Amino acid sequence: MIDAISFSSGTFRYLDQRFLPLKELHIETRDYKEAIEAIKTLAVRGAPLIGASAAYTVVLGLNAYQGEKADFPAYFERLIAEVNASRPTAVNLFFATKKMQAVYDANFEADSLETLFAKMTDEAQKIYSDEVDNCDRIARHGVEQLKRDLAGVLKTRKLNVLTHCNTGTLACCGIGTALGVIRLAWQEGLIERVISSESRPLLQGLRLTAWELEHDGIPFVSISDSSSAILMQRGMIDFAVVGADRITANGDTANKIGTYAHAISANHHCIPFYIAAPVSTIDITLSEGSQIPIEERNADELRTIFGTQVATPTTPVVNYAFDVTPGTLIRGIITEKKAVVGDYVKGLAELFEN
Ligand code: MRU
Repeated sequence: MIDAISFSSGTFRYLDQRFLPLKELHIETRDYKEAIEAIKTLAVRGAPLIGASAAYTVVLGLNAYQGEKADFPAYFERLIAEVNASRPTAVNLFFATKKMQAVYDANFEADSLETLFAKMTDEAQKIYSDEVDNCDRIARHGVEQLKRDLAGVLKTRKLNVLTHCNTGTLACCGIGTALGVIRLAWQEGLIERVISSESRPLLQGLRLTAWELEHDGIPFVSISDSSSAILMQRGMIDFAVVGADRITANGDTANKIGTYAHAISANHHCIPFYIAAPVSTIDITLSEGSQIPIEERNADELRTIFGTQVATPTTPVVNYAFDVTPGTLIRGIITEKKAVVGDYVKGLAELFEN
């Protein structure tokens, strides 16, 4: 298993994903500002991994505290605000900082700072290990859903699956969300080939998903983002499964830019389009997708490719990092609790009932 992030003895260790697959650079830091920078620059990325990294970043911030207990609340408030400001779309980041805040709220009065920090460190480790477990459960529910929905095709042949961006170990702590479903489906002999779209401009599909699939020996091809429609038209894709950065109460789903176009094409060709994500990615406080903050990134991500200028430095650019696929285009949202199909308002709300 690829070690995307880990935390021990006060040190946060991460694989810097900006250089993959050409260079495997592991970085160690005890500085919470460096960890925030790693989230901002996408050295660590992918919604569940951002959540776990955010929790570890808070722990680094705690460890850096030198003051008295009386001054700690103001410091902690600033620390959480700084971590929250690192990336806006993946709700897992806010899920993680809220969990850390809850431990603080419940224990600050009674505990010494040392005991409080130990409890918060345990909470961060739990956020990480929960995401590892979630991936295994998502994969199981996803494969069961595929067997139900695609039983007819599976009687005659294996399936070709489209995925977008990177939703594997590099993004999720465990085996992955969408890529976890694909991994398990492959192990069960259901998959012919994975079609991985490149995911411009930072190429998470071409660089990272391809790297993980190659590592596992799963047959795949990489395509440009704009190729999915012709492959669907030619019968080369049977279903699509992608991850999510934030899912609203009605099933609208923010994910890597390009996801929406794949979903429109899939629906046009009557191909089931699934989202695989942990419950920590569902923002039940938002009723629909237009309320999701969409990150806009630096124009140079588009005007340059790995430092090489490919457009004039003055070319005007719109660079949304994510788009929102309406729930109406999604066949099912596969979570660690169950696969929600049909009425998302009811089905997603039920996930929060116990
Ligand atoms: O900008 P990134 O690389 O953090 O975007 C990642 C994605 O959009 C993933 O598809 C999403 O976070 C799901 S990861 C399981």
